Amino acid sequence: MTGRVRSILLLISCLVVSIQSENCHFAQNYNLNQLLNDAAAQDSFLMSASYWEGKFATDRIGINYASGLTYDGTSIDYTTGLPHPGGLHEFSAASKEAVHVSLLALAIEGKSKYAVNFFQSSMQAVHWNGTVQEYVIDQLTRKIGSYEQFNQQYPGFGGFLPWYALNDSGVQLLNGWASKVPALDNGELIWGLIAVVQVLTENGGYPTLLGRYTRQVTKMARNGLTIFYDGAGSGTVRCVAQIRNVDILPTRSNYYRDGECVLNDPYEGELFVFFVDFFSDWTNYAPGDKDKVWQNKRPQLQPATLHSSFGPITVERGWMHSSHEKWKYMELPYFDIPINNAVFLNGERARSQFSFTNSYPGLFASAANVSQPGNYNPNYISATGIQEIASAHVDTNALVTPYGAYPLLLHPTTRPYGIVWYASMLQGSKMQGPQGSTESVSIQGDLISPINTWDTKITSVLAFSGGIIDITRRYIQQTGHYIRFATVVATEWGRVFGEDNLSGSNIAFALPKASVPQKLPMFTGCTSKK
Ligand SMILES: *[C@@H]1O[C@H](CO)[C@@H](O)[C@H](O)[C@H]1NC(C)=O
Ligand SMILES: *[C@@H]1O[C@H](CO)[C@@H](O)[C@H](O)[C@H]1NC(C)=O
Ligand SMILES: *[C@@H]1O[C@H](CO)[C@@H](O)[C@H](O)[C@H]1NC(C)=O
Ligand SMILES: *[C@@H]1O[C@H](CO)[C@@H](O)[C@H](O)[C@H]1NC(C)=O
Repeated sequence: MTGRVRSILLLISCLVVSIQSENCHFAQNYNLNQLLNDAAAQDSFLMSASYWEGKFATDRIGINYASGLTYDGTSIDYTTGLPHPGGLHEFSAASKEAVHVSLLALAIEGKSKYAVNFFQSSMQAVHWNGTVQEYVIDQLTRKIGSYEQFNQQYPGFGGFLPWYALNDSGVQLLNGWASKVPALDNGELIWGLIAVVQVLTENGGYPTLLGRYTRQVTKMARNGLTIFYDGAGSGTVRCVAQIRNVDILPTRSNYYRDGECVLNDPYEGELFVFFVDFFSDWTNYAPGDKDKVWQNKRPQLQPATLHSSFGPITVERGWMHSSHEKWKYMELPYFDIPINNAVFLNGERARSQFSFTNSYPGLFASAANVSQPGNYNPNYISATGIQEIASAHVDTNALVTPYGAYPLLLHPTTRPYGIVWYASMLQGSKMQGPQGSTESVSIQGDLISPINTWDTKITSVLAFSGGIIDITRRYIQQTGHYIRFATVVATEWGRVFGEDNLSGSNIAFALPKASVPQKLPMFTGCTSKK
């Protein structure tokens, strides 16, 4: 590229940034048909989305800047959309860290301009003078420092994070989680940390930081089975490990299973199982234990059929078939395995056809409920999804959430459909504000959930940035685990779904036929904060 072309491009991108910062209601500027078909419109839409979502990853909203760690989120004012005083969720978990750290890895790598743009937007809040790369490195440095401090203070957690409380001094123990730690959320975090290790290795410019992230991952690999494996011969991983003494270094007798739950789901929980499968030392357990974990998971992987108006669609049965269950697809290269890819795509056919057929103006995923103005503490609705293809009871289809679209946004084949569904929800009343998208909206458009969280907002950014699957693929290839990964996925999905010949795989992905009714005035806080 010549210098002149580069400076013209720079000029154009500056203009784009200043146009974007005018108005947080950018989704209204797009027509959905154009978004389905026009690559330039898709790109400018995603640039605006990543810009406004970036305003969430700022101090005392989505992160604690001093410690580099995430807050779960914040309540927002029902009128302005700005953070509601006293509404900061002063706690978080490894799952939110996973999204943050994954985006940081993508921004270092630099291939996703949306991930870069996200932090370019965030860094304006602290008047960052350096480059976005320097900002991202600074965030990563603060974060690993906070992890190290926590590890030193509470060695019994073995490098894993519980749900935690957070302030400028870093991680504090949270009531109810002072002596226990979950596997699933940490499995999500681990692959984000691995992505950081991979991109810092490839970058070569930050050897000290690389060493610190590598030691964190190594610690988690060393302690993963000690803390979470349910004993020699069991073939089960604990969903949550109870810790007898958080002040001592991990030994097996210091941990036991919390309740009955074992991590045997074919959804997000698998991220942890793959991590210990690849990187933990199984020699102290019974021979065959590693394979037994996969065998014990088998009963949960089941086919199910959605009877759409275009015919039956064979999918993998969901727990609720909430989009949240597809999280693992953002982190490991499952799409490489043809049968798993075909099952995933059928799941998204079903998801989009279900909402289309029922004229729902959006897609379903676990989220905070909508509430009346003045109520800043709505209940959390886990049980939303698609009853016909779920194994658990689905309570409601009365509210939709933007991140219902993230699986569609993630897969390259379905991304244009994902953009349309996502845009359609953002076009709803009060669904765009000064920190980007809102948690959820009632299908009548009369109520919102006045909340911003990592789960419902930034999963979409990670998904339309492509997830970290290209980075983690390189890592598991280079560490010699790719064949094991591909073999396990092909075996487990192949035994349930056969070869790549699922009913419904010729049915189209559906687009919304209803929009969220415009019943509420827009947020007024859009341009008041720079
Ligand atoms: C950014 O630059 C301004 C003016 O040069 C300076 O006053 C300020 O301290 C710098 N901020 C940071 C965070 O370095
Ligand atoms: C953070 O919380 C801990 C525990 O409540 C407290 O001891 C510490 O002083 C707090 N730090 C700040 C900077 O508020
Ligand atoms: C969600 O909140 C609305 C409005 O307050 C209420 O009517 C509804 O029953 C709640 N739904 C669930 C499943 O809790
Ligand atoms: C694929 O599925 C169709 C319809 O279910 C069936 O007729 C056909 O025989 C299957 N083909 C193979 C190779 O299994």
